[in-house]
Amino acid sequence: MNMTDYKVRTETEQDIDFLWEMLYQAIFMAEGEIKPSREILNQPEIFKYLCNWGRQGDIALIAMDSSEKPVGAIWIRLFDETNKTYGFIDKNTPVLSMAVVPEYRGQGVGTLLLNEMLRKAKNSGFFSLSLSVDPKNPALHLYERHGFVKVGINGTSWDMMTTLDNKYKIEGLR
Ligand SMILES: CC(C)(COP(=O)(O)OP(=O)(O)OC[C@H]1O[C@@H](n2cnc3c(N)ncnc32)[C@H](O)[C@@H]1OP(=O)(O)O)[C@@H](O)C(=O)NCCC(=O)NCCS
Repeated sequence: MNMTDYKVRTETEQDIDFLWEMLYQAIFMAEGEIKPSREILNQPEIFKYLCNWGRQGDIALIAMDSSEKPVGAIWIRLFDETNKTYGFIDKNTPVLSMAVVPEYRGQGVGTLLLNEMLRKAKNSGFFSLSLSVDPKNPALHLYERHGFVKVGINGTSWDMMTTLDNKYKIEGLR
């Protein structure tokens, strides 16, 4: 499929099951590792990425193919010291998660979603985004290309962060 056939839209209430499925698909398995069952979504460390979706600061975008079938998702969520997750930096920096349906990977959908989210997060007034990624995950290059830099290590994963150029808001020019 041609890239122009993919579109990105804001999520609606109907997308919540798809977001949970994309959370499952976002769990990184190194080559040779067995994929866990979907029960893993109930583990507190995983569950907190999407539970009670719709909190202040929650933003999700859905990529669709030309038949409007959802093929990928990206979302950001704020955490705090008492409720943090992998990739947490501070309470003003949303943590980003993303996944593309396996058959649709490697066609630019992830790049499209990430570009849209960087724009949307900036327009929503955020100054930075963070995430957690296994350095063996090819997604690392996607993040590096979009300005994310390593700011820490947590177990086998890297915490990464990017700043969003929000200087107009900082200087109060808007
Ligand atoms: C990471 C992911 C969201 C990227 O989406 P995508 O649509 O495949 O991305 P693009 O086609 O825009 O390609 C961007 C990068 O994704 C990676 N990628 C491409 N195909 C991939 C595939 N089949 N599997 C894993 N990563 C792939 C590559 O690093 C590529 O960058 P490159 O140009 O350096 O090769 C997607 O591959 C995915 O869902 N992977 C599994 C879930 C995951 O790892 N999520 C991130 C958790 S931190």
